[in-house]
Amino acid sequence: MNILSSICYGGDYNPEQWPEKIWYEDARLMQRAGVNLVSLGIFSWGKIEPSDGVFDFGWLDKVIDILYDHGVYINLGTATATTPAWFVKKYPDSLPIDESGVILSFGSRQHYCPNHPQLIMHMKRLVRAIAERYKKHPALKMWHVNNEYACHVSRCFCENCAVAFRKWLKERYKTIDELNERWGTNFWGQRYNNWDEINPPRKVPTFINPSQELDYYRFMNDSILKLFLREREILREVTPDIPISTNFMGPFKPLNYFQWAQYVDIVTWDSYPDPREGLPIQHAMMNDLMRSLRKGQPFILMEQVTSHVNWRDINVPKPPGVMRLWSYATIARGADGIMFFQWRQSRAGAEKFHGAMVPHFLNENNRIYTEVTELGKELKKLGCLVGSRIKAEVAIIFDWENWWAVELGSKPHNKLKYISIVESYYKELYKRNIAVDFVRPSDDLTKYKVVIAPMLYMVKEGEDENLRQFVANGGTLLVSFFSGIVDENDRVYLGGYPGPLRDILGIFVEEFVPYPEIKVNKIYSNDGEYDCTKWADIIHLDGAEPLAAFKGDWYAGLPAVTRNCYGKGEGIYVGTHPNSNYLGRLLEQVFAKHHINPALEVVENVEMQQRETDEWKYLIIINHNDYEVTVSLPKDKTYQNMIDGKCFRGGELRIQGVDVAVLRERDEAGKLESLSKFFG
Ligand code: GAL
Repeated sequence: MNILSSICYGGDYNPEQWPEKIWYEDARLMQRAGVNLVSLGIFSWGKIEPSDGVFDFGWLDKVIDILYDHGVYINLGTATATTPAWFVKKYPDSLPIDESGVILSFGSRQHYCPNHPQLIMHMKRLVRAIAERYKKHPALKMWHVNNEYACHVSRCFCENCAVAFRKWLKERYKTIDELNERWGTNFWGQRYNNWDEINPPRKVPTFINPSQELDYYRFMNDSILKLFLREREILREVTPDIPISTNFMGPFKPLNYFQWAQYVDIVTWDSYPDPREGLPIQHAMMNDLMRSLRKGQPFILMEQVTSHVNWRDINVPKPPGVMRLWSYATIARGADGIMFFQWRQSRAGAEKFHGAMVPHFLNENNRIYTEVTELGKELKKLGCLVGSRIKAEVAIIFDWENWWAVELGSKPHNKLKYISIVESYYKELYKRNIAVDFVRPSDDLTKYKVVIAPMLYMVKEGEDENLRQFVANGGTLLVSFFSGIVDENDRVYLGGYPGPLRDILGIFVEEFVPYPEIKVNKIYSNDGEYDCTKWADIIHLDGAEPLAAFKGDWYAGLPAVTRNCYGKGEGIYVGTHPNSNYLGRLLEQVFAKHHINPALEVVENVEMQQRETDEWKYLIIINHNDYEVTVSLPKDKTYQNMIDGKCFRGGELRIQGVDVAVLRERDEAGKLESLSKFFG
């Protein structure tokens, strides 16, 4: 799915915030900066439809024409991200209500209940009008549906939602008895006789029924997805050839993006790593996750910031060069587009201190605009990367329903965060430049050699069998503590944890020992001692061998990490949270066994990933250090640096601090001359 033949480059453009004469200036500056795509009209409902059923497209026609005349294509917003003031006045019950019954008013954005019938009717009418208006415009390259669905309002608890929830439950469980059984309502006398006794999980005296809460996550995700699908249906009908997307938010818990991704033509997502964090590891992890949502298809980074945001407590700017560096880090993990929020920094409103491609004070030597322009020029040379893919032999299981379930309250340890446990495994791959995909537990795992399942608390029907087959066929499955505990309704598997994974892992866990935050224990293995935190399992071997044991506490000497041979493969269980040294060593042993290696020898804080087409391999190397490093390229290969065009033979390559290299690789060293000719 290529939107343009070159890397998409541009940002959110909000011309309605500016007088018309600025539109011409903007188009000129965009052209100068190499911008080829902008996202337009995202918050423009009230401007396009100033009163009920009255449409004004004059201004938008003009903006689109000006941009097109300057070589800028359009990722057109469907303008549904914010209902206008007239709509809210007419339908005050379209405002969302939170779990305590508080109405969220007009005056910011995203103030709508996803199940409001008039909202749905008005959205559909608006989207059809926009699609009909621009369906033949040559500038239209892509649809940007709504904006960051659920970002501010991920759950509404109003009466419309209550009615829709009951309908959703009826479709899922058919009978009230089945619902009572699945929700375990005999506990605390919560039994229902009729569907209309059931409500959304509104504020209650103490812990709410977790199965009810879990279903509300599912229901709200489905309600919001339906909103998207309604728009998508109209766009598909009116413009069958224009790709449709909506911008995701990476580690965003309320929406199951694996489910959503089936319905977009290309994944787009927004990322704002904090420059204070140093290495952007979570950003890398999310790039890998976003790429994995559509099985490795390249994605577009739809929003990032040139410099600083305005919504943190302290909004630190990216130092010189870092915007470029992180843009390449995104391309390295599969992006075919680098876009920003936003083009021109707002003069008024809640985002006036948010960075932009064109800052408040612009002279053409301004640091930000200069960096934007230089990156734009470079990316023009990298059209060859568009459509290329990453090949991974390792996968990490990531499952949104599991995320919802494992973080519901009343657990043995209520401070564990799914994302951070996943990240502690991911980090070890990141540091070693091992390519990794994310998968759901039910996905086809046949192309992977190693699958890591951090805190897979919920195992749904059939998922255990998929994992069993993967191991039986020779794969290594590595499972962390607090996995295999409950079914899809959050009901515990009896007969020993980790329930349906027991046979693969050859163990059973009898008790959990969650650690207070300050507690550190040790595990020992035949190569040393390592710290462990957060958790200990009381593990009994049932076929597995111990790889490490606990050193301290009343379970000293009992296994902490185990390995079980199963079929042609093995199941490894990590019954605690070992430090990075241990996890790294354990994973290195597993990778060595499966001959899994990074593309190049690892250099500290230097990210390297490989993208491939049928014909070419591209190595993208990002030096996050502020000093020069040397990387060793195989001597039997020839390379072309795609940024400066130079061809050279493998060997030592020096890369400046905060700099990158994008190399096209050929196998035969002898072909250097012809390669140079080929590239002119
Ligand atoms: C995103 C949003 C944009 C803008 C940006 C600021 O969440 O989609 O409209 O608000 O954040 O960082």
